[in-house]
Parts: sequence; structure tokens; C-alpha cells
Amino acid sequence: MQYSSLLRLLPLALASLLFPLNAALIPQPLQFEQAENAPGFALRDGIRVDIATSHSEMGRAAIRALMAAGFSVLPEEMDGALEVHRIEHDNPEAYTLNVTGQQISIGVATPLALHAAAQTLAQAAEHGQIPAMQVADAPALQHRGIMLDPSRHPISVADTKRILDLMARYKLNRLHWHLCDDQGWRIEIKKYPLLTSIGSKRKETSCWIHQEKKDGKPVEFFYSQAEIREVVEYAHSLGIIIIPEIEIPGHASAAVAAYPQLGNQDCPDFAPEVITGWGVFTHVMGPNDFTFQFIEDVLAEVCELFPRAPYIHIGGDEVPRDQWKTSPAAQAFMKEHGYTRESQIQDHFTHFCAQVLRKHGRRMVGWDEIMCAPQLPQDAVVMAWRGMDHARIAARRGHQLILCPIHAFYFNFPYGKNPSEPFYSGLTGFDDIDCAHVLNFDTSVPGNQVIGMQANLWSECIPNMKKLEFMLMPRLCALAEHAWRYGTPNRPGAADFSRRLQTHFSWFDAMRINYRQEDGTPRQP
Ligand code: ACM
Repeated sequence: MQYSSLLRLLPLALASLLFPLNAALIPQPLQFEQAENAPGFALRDGIRVDIATSHSEMGRAAIRALMAAGFSVLPEEMDGALEVHRIEHDNPEAYTLNVTGQQISIGVATPLALHAAAQTLAQAAEHGQIPAMQVADAPALQHRGIMLDPSRHPISVADTKRILDLMARYKLNRLHWHLCDDQGWRIEIKKYPLLTSIGSKRKETSCWIHQEKKDGKPVEFFYSQAEIREVVEYAHSLGIIIIPEIEIPGHASAAVAAYPQLGNQDCPDFAPEVITGWGVFTHVMGPNDFTFQFIEDVLAEVCELFPRAPYIHIGGDEVPRDQWKTSPAAQAFMKEHGYTRESQIQDHFTHFCAQVLRKHGRRMVGWDEIMCAPQLPQDAVVMAWRGMDHARIAARRGHQLILCPIHAFYFNFPYGKNPSEPFYSGLTGFDDIDCAHVLNFDTSVPGNQVIGMQANLWSECIPNMKKLEFMLMPRLCALAEHAWRYGTPNRPGAADFSRRLQTHFSWFDAMRINYRQEDGTPRQP
């Protein structure tokens, strides 16, 4: 080694003396050993990848994953230090790492796992070094997600990408995108242009929890198909799949305002509009030919825009039956099909959606209300939000399920019951969702039907990124750990999590995240 190289390494050697490296990873890997007192891998100007690895398919995928995780990478080096190999494992995201002073060796079952390996390295890297360590890791659940709601308050493409960055850092791999609701339709659909020219606009908005107080400011927002593709590709570069949601047949006011033929036009006082307040509203889809054709057409465009989504979310929650009771056309539809209860109209919609999606090679996922449908297709995925009882019913019926119980994983609710807690309302009854609660909440379900876990961030009362980040961080980290280590032995407790979390605040600061600090205050008041 040349003298000049030695000089270059001197600050790193000093740094390792001054700052003993102690990787504090979230989620905590299944197996993790750090070699005490062994020299770490010095990053210098980047990770050097040897020529052979740079030219292999897996090597190129590793380079992309490392760069997406924030590393600078020097490909095609003669003295490359990165080595990638395949391991045998039935979990596609399983990986191993062996880091020494001279080499980073990554073992993966599939290229998908390179993202998790790269993020572990990124979290461990500190003061220009990655500590010498050995890791053997794999997630317990295949769907680890966050739900975003740009319907109630717009979330820009740039902000959505920023949230994807935060998710990727903590190995969350699914973004559930709630793209329409009563308060606005947010996805361009070429065949139905009024969805966006009318349905994406509302006159004004209720202020926070005060329904009657309106801000007087018009809202107009949607994602063009080009923007949707851009976000989908960005997510893909981070190893994240986006699951889009189209609400059927309820939460449909914006869609019905755009196309009244979608609604129950023969109801008394039928006057749909894009809603400016919060709650559950009576405008639901009507069971007619126009609506069923609409569903086929919209889901066809959605499947094309989200080519990697294995299941598509069709909503199904909170569907009032009032209009179906008073609509002569809906009553005639019931008679024609031999239905005796209005709820069977919803079941009809659910079955119809499943059938359309199957034609596109996709499965259906819906909120747990879809379970009311008799003979719900066995491959329907149930998203259990009303509580663990609903999750356990879904499991008993043999459905795969994703857990997002309102009692622990609704991140729109405050962290604490204290009236001084930012955004405390005292109204919801779910006012103490702190990290310990997210980690400790009993999510056990007999059997092995749970495939995922996610936090939902409903945005009625989240008008901007500053508040969104506060509600998300650091709870996102706790959710990520709960999902990664779901049901695994020696799951670390909340105190251990809290100790590791301390070391993540400097990254939050570098990212300029408005996280909730330990004293309960926002980082950027
Ligand atoms: C929901 O919170 N309505 C799924």
C-alpha cells in the first residue's frame, strides 16, 4: 500500500477509535453478530465492485440496490471488495451479510433480497465505515406497508417519493395508495376524463376536526398516468410494490359527482358533489350497466398502470345502504337477482370485482367488510382494520390477511392521550398509539394466514407534509420491526427498540424529517 493511501486511511482509523461502531438496526435482524474490536470496512470514496461482479446480472442488481440505499458505488474495479452470491432459502427476501475490513459479502435467495441487504448496510454505516459483522435475516411477512390517502389532502409526487425513501430505509415493501374517496378522485383514467376534470376538484375543506369550519380554499389535484408510472418505477427501484385502491361501491361521492350515471339517480334528493367535510356519505354506486362497465374499464387501466401489484384493492368499507333502499332501480335489481337484503348488492359488487381482476391475473384485496359476501373467493385477501376479531374470522375462513387494526396501526391518531400532545383531539378513543403500543399490540392469529401488516395514515386532518412526517416518524420504524419480526423467536421488546431508535435520529435530522421527539414535541415546531 502506498504511503498516500495510508495517510488517507488515517482519519478513518482515528474515527474508529473515537466512535466505536455499534450498529443498532431497525428492524432487528433475526441473527446479528458484530465483531467487537475488528476493523470495519472503510467506505472511502465508495464501495468498489470487481469487474466480474459488475458484469453479472446479480452484481448489477446489487449495484442498483446499493445506490438506491444511498451508497456511492465504483463498478468495474480491479481490486473490488463486493461479492454477491446466491443462498438457498424459501423466503425470497432472505439475505446474509459478512462484512470484514477487506470485503462485503452478500448472499441472497433472489435479487429482491438485495434491497434488504443494502438497507442493512446503509443503517450500519457510520463515520465512513461499515462495522465488521455477520447477519442472517429474512422477514416474517411478505407485505409490510404504509397506506397513504391523497384523496383527503393532496400528497405531491415528490412527497410520495420521499415517503417511499423512508419506507425503504426500514424495509417496508408495500405502499397502499388510496387513490379515490368522497373528497376527491386522484388518478387519471383515460376512458373517464370527468373523474379528474370534475372529481378531483372540491370547493373547500373542513378544518381539522371542525366539520362546520371551512377554509374557503378550492382543491384541485390528481396524478396523471405519466406521474403514476413515474412513482411506480421509483418504488420499484427501492424494492417497493404499490397496491392501488379504487373504492367500490362506497366512498364514491367524487366518482358519482363526475358521472351521475354511476349513482342511484332515481333516489329522492339525488345531488352528488365532491365532499368538503369528513365522515361516511350516502352516495354509493348504483347496480346498473353503466357502473359495471365503468368498473371493468377502470380496473383494466389500473391493472395496466400497476403491472407488479399481485392484488388490487377494491375498498368495500363503510357502505351505507340508504340509497339502495329508496332507489326503485336498485330494488328492481335485487328482485331480478333474488336478493332479499340490500347488503347483497354490495356482495354482488365484491364478486364482480373479483371476477374482473381474475381476468387480469390479479387477486382482490378489500377491507374486512368484503367478508360479508357469501362464497367470497378463497383467494381474496382481507385487510382487517376493524380489529383483531375480524382478522381471526378471516383466518378461520381460510383467507390470507393483512393486519391494520385501528387500535394500533392507524397513524392518523395521536401518540398520546395527553391534551398537550400535538393534534390531540380527545374525540377518537384511540389516542395513545406510541411506538411501544405499535410494537406490543397483540396481533396473534391462529394458523399461518397472516401475510402482511401495515399502518394507515388517513389524511382528513393531515393537510401537509410537516404533520404527515410527525404522524409517521418514528412509528413507521416500530411498525417495520413488528412486521419483520412477526411471530419470530426472541423478538426484541420496546425498551430494546427504543435504545436502537436513539441512533436513528441523526439520520432523521440529515433527512430533515419532522419526527416526534422523545419529549413529544415535533422536531420542526
Ligand atoms: C377504514 O378505516 N374505513 C378502512
